Amino acid sequence: MSAGGNGRKRSAVVTGAGSGIGRAAALRLARDGFLVGVVDRDVAAVEEVADAIRSAGGDAVAAQADVRDEGQVASAFAQVCEGGGPLFALVHSAGILASSPPLDLREDAWRQVIDVNLTGTFHCDLAAARLMVDAGSEGRIVNVASVHASAPGRGLAAYDASKGGVWMLTRNLALELAPYRITVNAVGPGLIVHTKLGGGSGQEYLDRTVPTIPLGRAGEPSDVAGAVSFLCSPDAAYVTGSMIYVDGGMLLTAHT
Ligand SMILES: NC(=O)c1ccc[n+]([C@@H]2O[C@H](COP(=O)([O-])OP(=O)(O)OC[C@H]3O[C@@H](n4cnc5c(N)ncnc54)[C@H](O)[C@@H]3O)[C@@H](O)[C@H]2O)c1
Repeated sequence: MSAGGNGRKRSAVVTGAGSGIGRAAALRLARDGFLVGVVDRDVAAVEEVADAIRSAGGDAVAAQADVRDEGQVASAFAQVCEGGGPLFALVHSAGILASSPPLDLREDAWRQVIDVNLTGTFHCDLAAARLMVDAGSEGRIVNVASVHASAPGRGLAAYDASKGGVWMLTRNLALELAPYRITVNAVGPGLIVHTKLGGGSGQEYLDRTVPTIPLGRAGEPSDVAGAVSFLCSPDAAYVTGSMIYVDGGMLLTAHT
């Protein structure tokens, strides 16, 4: 699985790989045999994660990019391909959460979330797809969406809209990139702790929410990385346009 046609390792770019779910996905894909392009806007974090992958015996290329900037994304992805083999997979995890009652939500706060979460997904997915199509090779794109792609959360108007958009972009690209043998899927995490974003929820929210999760616990970044690993594996070759919710059953209840 991991070797490209010329014996070189296949590359997998992970955005938002400096922390949380992206970090766990990067470590997991390296264990699965990919050369991992560790991409994040946080330069110290990408170096740390790339070092951690190498210390564990894997291969990594660190590249800094702000996903809001199309040019930075394209050059970071190209840097990964120069350092490794052809790009086989993109896992796009970079994202932010901002919360505000809707009547207080100002346009600059709305734009911040949409620019990172939705326009950033557009930049990353298309940059990856162009590299895959140019190489004439099959590929996998996995977008990290959220349970909030389908269930609204209080104070999360911009976040919910951005993740709903990510989900529809995923479905559109699954349709349009299928002729190129590129699959496009999403994972939908619920409440994932031990991430910077998840940690922002606060103890009171955790105490109130965890007991409502059918599986009785919050998720870990490694739970999401497992679903990402499957979607990048040969077993998922015929899966496209799907969302795997990794939420402990959270969406089965009304409390999101
Ligand atoms: N933690 C959760 O409970 C949860 C739930 C559902 C969905 N998600 C989604 O999972 C993804 C990862 O979140 P996480 O919990 O691991 O958070 P995190 O904050 O730990 O990691 C996010 C990473 O994205 C990077 N990033 C942010 N903006 C960027 C930008 N403009 N350009 C490049 N990199 C940028 C950050 O530097 C950070 O390393 C996000 O898309 C988030 O919406 C998280």
